[in-house]
Amino acid sequence: MERSIKFCDVTLRDGEQTPGVHFAVPQKLDIAKRLRRMGTDIIEAGFPASSPGDFEAVSAVAQDMADDDRCTVSALARMTTADIDAALRAIEPAKRKRLHVFIATSDIHLVNKLHMTREQVLARIYECVTYAKSKHIADEIEFSAEDATRTDLGFLCQAVECAVNAGASVINIPDTVGYTTPDEFTDILHAIRTAVRGKYELSVHCHNDLGLASANSIAAVQAGATQIECTINGLGERAGNAPFEEIVMALTVRHDVIGVFHRINTREITETSRLVASISGIPVSPNKAVVGANAFSHASGIHQHGVMNSRATYEIMDPAAIGLNNADTLVLGKLSGRHAFAERVRTMGYSLTSEGIDAAFTRFKEIADKKSVITDEDVRAIVGEYLDSLEGRYYLSSFQIQSGNHIKAMALVTLKVTVDGEEPYEITEAAPGEGPIDAAFNAVERIAGAEDTELISYGITAVTEGTDALGEARVKLKSLADGSVYTGRGVSTDVIKASIKAYLNAVNKWTNANKK
Ligand code: KIV
Ligand code: ZN
Repeated sequence: MERSIKFCDVTLRDGEQTPGVHFAVPQKLDIAKRLRRMGTDIIEAGFPASSPGDFEAVSAVAQDMADDDRCTVSALARMTTADIDAALRAIEPAKRKRLHVFIATSDIHLVNKLHMTREQVLARIYECVTYAKSKHIADEIEFSAEDATRTDLGFLCQAVECAVNAGASVINIPDTVGYTTPDEFTDILHAIRTAVRGKYELSVHCHNDLGLASANSIAAVQAGATQIECTINGLGERAGNAPFEEIVMALTVRHDVIGVFHRINTREITETSRLVASISGIPVSPNKAVVGANAFSHASGIHQHGVMNSRATYEIMDPAAIGLNNADTLVLGKLSGRHAFAERVRTMGYSLTSEGIDAAFTRFKEIADKKSVITDEDVRAIVGEYLDSLEGRYYLSSFQIQSGNHIKAMALVTLKVTVDGEEPYEITEAAPGEGPIDAAFNAVERIAGAEDTELISYGITAVTEGTDALGEARVKLKSLADGSVYTGRGVSTDVIKASIKAYLNAVNKWTNANKK
């Protein structure tokens, strides 16, 4: 009989460690719903002890899964009783619950971070897994040996054995810094299986620092791993985690050589990827495997000719297999009403409040006045901008730009300022710049007092084709004080307006984090 592979999605936890990404509670719920619809076996919803907001988010996902007997909710905890208690409380409402405890095992981490000996680490693993078991809340306990692939193999096996003896039923071997290679990883996993007998799920969690996360995950499956941890679109710390969509499609398309079975409905991949890109504000690169915009486009004449004769000439997967054909329905126009818009937003996977729908619908109407057809991509951009604007203190009231090839660009920007407990008021500032957008950003920076930030990236793309296309601007700001990154998006058929709104959304997030 074929082995079955479980997918543990960590987008809501490791994916949220992507610089500039923060998932609010309703957005975590929306992503979790999509993941469940796709057939994900386990959803790691967060790290409850890390913040009250994350505790609330994990509890909300767990409550939403109170009757779900197919998908398990997992929460991360360090090896302390306080972390374990918080994680157990957060997952308690779910029908199927998993606690995921981790501690580093490599000497680099023991010496430089934990300041613990190997013996102390073993003792901590035993105590904490035993403690978590004694609470009788989680159905299963997962143990991760952080930085496993740079850990002395003998000690790694000892740590795994200790966790299994204490009651862990899932053993996760993370390549925390994306350092291993497929052959080396295979040897590590074989060594663990040989040294530590017994019944446990063997899981892997690969980071992508050398671009090997997918290859290492597939090698792990071939070496006997039964669970893969991954994120949608490969979101995550630094170069990210193993991308869910790549691994599931590799297992599906190369079933002939890998020969394992999974329960993922691959037709949900495109919509899930798009929802995560829209909510996280991290776009998918066009040449990204499986879900990039160019993944099924053929530019060269020879390729086009081949595909016209038979798609199989240059395509190894059917676009329908990842749900590409269901996406991109042309849906709305300027005569569409609030109800049709709200329904479309809901079926795309967003659950906005009635206030949220009103705000997004107002934007939709403004845009539909200038653009004849609104596609799903436009709706995603509108909702994405709305989600980014939720943390608002400054709103764009008006702007005027003066620019030309013989004069210095000047911008006059008026922002409405709303501070809790005060009447809203307006501030206007003028500023010069190297071009109209630079000038407008300088004026916003003056109003918001955001001199302590640096613009680290700015880009604008057309959401769809045509001269009336919606422009989507994206901005990343870095705090000079602590290096935190804040992202913002803005959409408009006017590129300067889209840019100002994107900058403003990022400035608003920075303001919320830095000013009372
Ligand atoms: O990358 C890592 O090691 C992790 C662990 C917490 C599993 O994310
Ligand atoms: Zn990780």
